[in-house]
Order: sequence, then structure tokens, then C-alpha cells
Amino acid sequence: MKESTLPSNPSTTQANTVLGNTVLGIDIGGSGIKGAPVDVRNGTLTAERFRIPTPQPSTPDAVAEVVADIARHFSWQGAIGCTFPAIVKHGVVHSAANVDKRWIGEDAAHHFSQSTGCPTMILNDADAAGIAEIRLGAGREQRGVVMVLTFGTGIGSALFIDGTLVPNTELGHLDLGDHHNVETWAAARVRKEEDLSWKKWAKRVERYLEHLEALFSPDLFIIGGGVSKKRDKFFELLDLHTPCTAAEMQNEAGIIGAAMAAYDAAKALAT
Ligand code: BGC
Repeated sequence: MKESTLPSNPSTTQANTVLGNTVLGIDIGGSGIKGAPVDVRNGTLTAERFRIPTPQPSTPDAVAEVVADIARHFSWQGAIGCTFPAIVKHGVVHSAANVDKRWIGEDAAHHFSQSTGCPTMILNDADAAGIAEIRLGAGREQRGVVMVLTFGTGIGSALFIDGTLVPNTELGHLDLGDHHNVETWAAARVRKEEDLSWKKWAKRVERYLEHLEALFSPDLFIIGGGVSKKRDKFFELLDLHTPCTAAEMQNEAGIIGAAMAAYDAAKALAT
């Protein structure tokens, strides 16, 4: 996993000693922050998921406190993997399309490691969901170019080449010419806000996916986010060259993918 930032603090030694097969996965979203311990060998949650509403405003300090509350809830003392809905490089947040702008430049890995007392690794939310899909879900054993797209408040993207992630692709912000930032036109939130029929929204999604086809010639699209549960409403309306399937991991994809990524990062440090 390339976005390893495990651990900026506490020490590497601590990361090594706390690494078992279970990692606490935490998924930071616009409305809720949820976490659960994950057995990374098979992606199962070993305890019931715990959710706390995202603080408003979602400043770095307020979110770090909630992340710490989740770790405390599980009396957690071990590695943590955490998603964030923005570009994350080496633990540092580099964008803030749908979160408080004060996040830009923030070393989230360091901040959360401090607030939880546990080594914490951070990665982009769509990348985390993609990892779960590729390892355990709709992308299992898929070779070639696979694009996982999450439709929610924004549009997240995770690009895999023969199972290897290219992190932080941010394809939800592509410029379609007449639509400069595609997520403001085709995210699932826009369907609700503009009260679009599924048919009208599907046309937008189709246009977007056609653009991605032209750029990347993918072998498979995996559609995630809340809309993956509504595939009956719009999948048959999409006319594309590329096979398109719904994500299978649903609500837990971010938690599971984050835990797996943190495990890989800690293991790489330990060897
Ligand atoms: C952000 C991405 C994120 C996506 C889904 C976009 O606005 O730029 O980083 O993955 O929303 O949350």
C-alpha cells in the first residue's frame, strides 16, 4: 500500500508490537464516522460497527476527537486504518472538496495517532472502498484496468491495474467541457437535490463513464456508494462498452479497506 504513513507517532516499534490480525477500520464520511475491528485475513468485522455523527464544522480537532472516541469505544490498542474523503499523501490531506477547508495541509495521520494513542494510517475513502472490492468483493480476481467509482455526496474513484492501486486519482473532478467538475453534476447527491428521475441521472452517469472509457479503456467499472443498492433503478439504462457491476461490500467497504491497507503498511514497516 503506497500511502503508508504508519506511524508518524507513536513509534515504529509500537506499531510492530501491536500488529495482530485485527485492525480497527474507521470510515470518515460527511454525515457519520464509523468504525469496527476487522479481521484482515477475511475482511470480517469482529465486533458491531460503532457510529458517531460527523461533528459540524468538521474541523481537524473535532474529527480527531471523534476518531479517538471510536478507538476508546473498542478499548483499542493497536493499528488503525482510517479513510478520508480527500487526497491523502503520506498521511497529509491535500484537498477538501466536501470537508472543512482547514484540513488542507493537515497531517491527519499524526493528528489521529496523537488523539488515539495508536499508530494510524490514512487513505482516500474511495481508494479504501476499492481495496475492499478488489480483494473481497466485485473485483475479486479481476486483472487488467478496473475502476471503482463511488457515487455519494461527491464522486470518488479508485483505479487498479492488475490488482494494484494507483492512489488519489480523483476522477470525480474531471472536466467534461460543459460540466467543469463532474461530481457537481453527476454525484448521487445531485440526483436528490435536483429531483432528477433515475433516467435523467443515469444519462449523466453514462456520459461520465463514456468519458472515462475514452481516457482509460477500462476492463470493468464497479459502481459503489449508496447507489450500489439501487442498481435495479439505473444499471439497465447505461449503454456502455465496458462491463459494469455493482459494488458488493456496501456500507462496510471503507472500514474493511482501511483496515487492510493499514495492516499492509504496518507489515511493510515491520519487515
Ligand atoms: C473528493 C474525493 C473523495 C470523493 C468521495 C470527492 O469530492 O475529492 O477525494 O474520494 O469526494 O468522497
